[in-house]
Amino acid sequence: MNAYPERRMRRLRQTPRIRRMVEMEFPGLGRFLWPVFVVEGQGVKQPIAAMPGQFRYSPDALIEALTPLSELGIGGILVFGVIPNDRKDETGQPAYDPAGVVPQTVRLVRERFPDLVVFTDVCLCAYTSHGHCGPLDRRGNVDNEAAVATLARVAIVHAEAGATGVAPSAMMDGQVQAIRRALDAAGRAETLIMSYSTKFASSFYGPFRNAGGSSPRHGDRRSYQASFADARRALLESALDEAEGADILMVKPALCYLDMIARLRERTDLPIAAYNVSGEYSMLIAAAERGWGDLRGMVRESITGIARAGADIIISYWANRYGDLIGGRGQVGGEMR
Ligand code: PBG
Repeated sequence: MNAYPERRMRRLRQTPRIRRMVEMEFPGLGRFLWPVFVVEGQGVKQPIAAMPGQFRYSPDALIEALTPLSELGIGGILVFGVIPNDRKDETGQPAYDPAGVVPQTVRLVRERFPDLVVFTDVCLCAYTSHGHCGPLDRRGNVDNEAAVATLARVAIVHAEAGATGVAPSAMMDGQVQAIRRALDAAGRAETLIMSYSTKFASSFYGPFRNAGGSSPRHGDRRSYQASFADARRALLESALDEAEGADILMVKPALCYLDMIARLRERTDLPIAAYNVSGEYSMLIAAAERGWGDLRGMVRESITGIARAGADIIISYWANRYGDLIGGRGQVGGEMR
C-alpha cells in the first residue's frame, strides 16, 4: 500500500502551475445558457428585486444586454415570457400567441445574433390566471392531456419564430412525445427538445416566481413536479423523456441535486443540462452582501461542482456576470485566475 510517508498529497498542490496541470478546466461561457425574462415594450429594463443583477427586458433591451455576452462567446439563452396578470386566462392561451413577447424576442434575437442558441421555456404557469402549469379539471387538478395539447401548440409557435430548441418545464406526462410529434408534423424536425426531465418541486424557485409572476394561487406543484425525497422516480422521469425523444436532459435545481446529475451521467449518453436556479443565485448574493462569503469564490465553486458532477450545459443567471465576476483565465480555486 502506497501511503504516508511515501505518498504525500501536498506534492501535487505545491505551485499554481502544478495544480493547474491536474485540475479540470473551469467551464467556459460557451457552455452556459442565460435564463432571461422578457416583457412587452421598448427600452424596458426593470430590476428584479429578488435577483440582484437580473432584469425583465423588453426585446430591444435584451439585444443590448446580449451584445457583450455574444462577443464573449456565450452559448445562448433560455427565454421566459412575463405578461400582465389581467391578460392571463384559465387555460393559458396567451402562451401560444404568435405575436406574444416570446416569439417576438426569438425573432429579434435570431435576426441580430444568428448563431446564438435560443431555447424557450414551454410552460403555462406564467399564462394561467391560477398559476398552475396547465388547465385545471373540475376537481382542481391539472388536466394532463389538456395541458399537453396546449404545450405542443406553444412549442410550434416558438419553433416557427426560429427557436433553436424548446424546453418543456410543465412536468406533464407524455409532454416530450407530444411536442416531438407536433414539431415533426409542423415540419420542424430540426428543433431541439431540452426537457426539464428531472425537475423537483423545490423551495429554491422563490425568486423566479417573483420575477415571472408565476406562483400558483392555491396549492403547490407537488402533484406534477418530482419529490426531492424520491430519487428513483426522479431518474425514471429522465429515462422516460429520453425514450419520448428528448435531445437534452435536465436536472433542476442543481446544487442540492449533484448526486442526480452524477447518477444520470452514468445512465445516459444524451447531453445533460443543469439548471442553477434562482434561489441558488440569490442566496449567494445575500450571503455576500452580509459579508458572509466571497461572491466570486462561491460562484466559481458552485459552477465547478455542477460541471464536475457531469453537466454539459449550465443554465445559470451567473452567465451575464461571467465577464466581470466569474470568468478569467486560470483554474478552479487556484491563484492563477
Ligand atoms: C416554470 C418554471 C419554473 C422555473 C423554471 N421554469 C418555476 C416553477 O416551476 O415554479 C424555476 C427557475 C428558477 O427558479 O430559476 N414551470
